[in-house]
Amino acid sequence: MIKIAPSILSADFGRLNEDIASVAAAGADLVHIDVMDGHFVPNLTFGATVVKDIKTELPLDVHLMIENPEKYISDFVEAGADFITVHFEACPDLRGVVEDIKVAGIECGVSVKPGTAIEELEPYLEDLDLILIMSVEPGFGGQSFIPSALDKIKWLRDEGFEGEISVDGGVNQETGALCREAGASILVAGSYIFGAEDREEAVESLRG
Ligand code: DX5
Ligand code: ZN
Repeated sequence: MIKIAPSILSADFGRLNEDIASVAAAGADLVHIDVMDGHFVPNLTFGATVVKDIKTELPLDVHLMIENPEKYISDFVEAGADFITVHFEACPDLRGVVEDIKVAGIECGVSVKPGTAIEELEPYLEDLDLILIMSVEPGFGGQSFIPSALDKIKWLRDEGFEGEISVDGGVNQETGALCREAGASILVAGSYIFGAEDREEAVESLRG
């Protein structure tokens, strides 16, 4: 079954735990947490100290859009991350970072930006629990879905990848359906869920 991961980038940070409780009540499966450093992406959010204060029963799906992610893995593990996803483009030693995440006993993900060929991940497929396909340029919510993400999902399933395939950026009812058909198992949605009048209906509409 498809899992729905609301991205808190579109939440009200002044009442973050209330907003997270509201999407949990709406039926979300994971909380997607966007960490940005102002270098890897042209925007800043927050670090592990904020993640530590998140109170929820839902698994925390941490998406690190930062340079040198290896420096911060242990901080996010201690903060309660269940999944840590790093960017292929930010890791000269991807194998080392993947190893660090796995040794910490949590789920390991790698993400690719829209311009990165998915074939780059071929040597790592067996080691990954999750692959996060960016369907917008990382950095901001509320952008339009880039359809080439669908070919990347299909390629991964054709290669026999059985882990989670997550899609992030511009996901709504329409694009979410295309991602599900292509083989995605997690849909990340920020503005579509947090901007909805009825968040439960929005979550349900993504399940199809
Ligand atoms: C963008 C983030 C996304 C973002 C998605 O860099 O990784 O998680 O919040 O926002 P929407 O769903 O509004 O495109
Ligand atoms: Zn994200």
